[in-house]
Amino acid sequence: MATLQITTCSPSETEQLGAGIGSLLQPGSFLALQGGLGGGKTCLTRGVVSSLAPQSSALVASPTYAIMNCYPGSTPVYHFDFYRLTGDDDVAELGFEEFFYDDGVCVVEWSERLDELLPEDVLTLLFEYGGDDRRLITITGSGPKSEHVVKQLEEMLQQQKKL
Ligand SMILES: Nc1ncnc2c1ncn2[C@@H]1O[C@H](COP(=O)(O)OP(=O)(O)O)[C@@H](O)[C@H]1O
Ligand SMILES: [Mg+2]
Repeated sequence: MATLQITTCSPSETEQLGAGIGSLLQPGSFLALQGGLGGGKTCLTRGVVSSLAPQSSALVASPTYAIMNCYPGSTPVYHFDFYRLTGDDDVAELGFEEFFYDDGVCVVEWSERLDELLPEDVLTLLFEYGGDDRRLITITGSGPKSEHVVKQLEEMLQQQKKL
């Protein structure tokens, strides 16, 4: 496991972090976004989409009602929000797992709702409220692909003097 903690102080900083992460992802990457409402999960997703499917990034909104939005690009981004689901049964019933092993990138808000269906190689981002506009974001890579992304991100942020 590889872990990194970063504090952002504005929505645009969180979006920029998402863009940086997006630039490091490969087809098949899976981002699990955790933490309460208003944490910045959708904001970070907008940044990921701006890297991978730039023509769609302005469209990124919370898919709470849609459950899933697809943003076409060189690497398509499948954006899920499982806030309203109660567990694996719902996800299995709706047939969403087929996207989890596709050639796109999956970004999943409320991934806590996934249990057995969570892939083994996952980049998890936990969003915690740090007062006002501060958000503490803990990034954990489990599995070789995601661990590699954490290491590359660490180097990128050090170069940008953000760590
Ligand atoms: N550092 C920050 N990062 C992200 N969002 C922030 C930050 N500071 C304040 N905000 C605000 O918090 C809210 C985050 O909303 P959103 O990204 O939809 O959260 P979530 O998807 O986790 O519910 C927005 O209203 C945004 O303007
Ligand atoms: Mg959201």
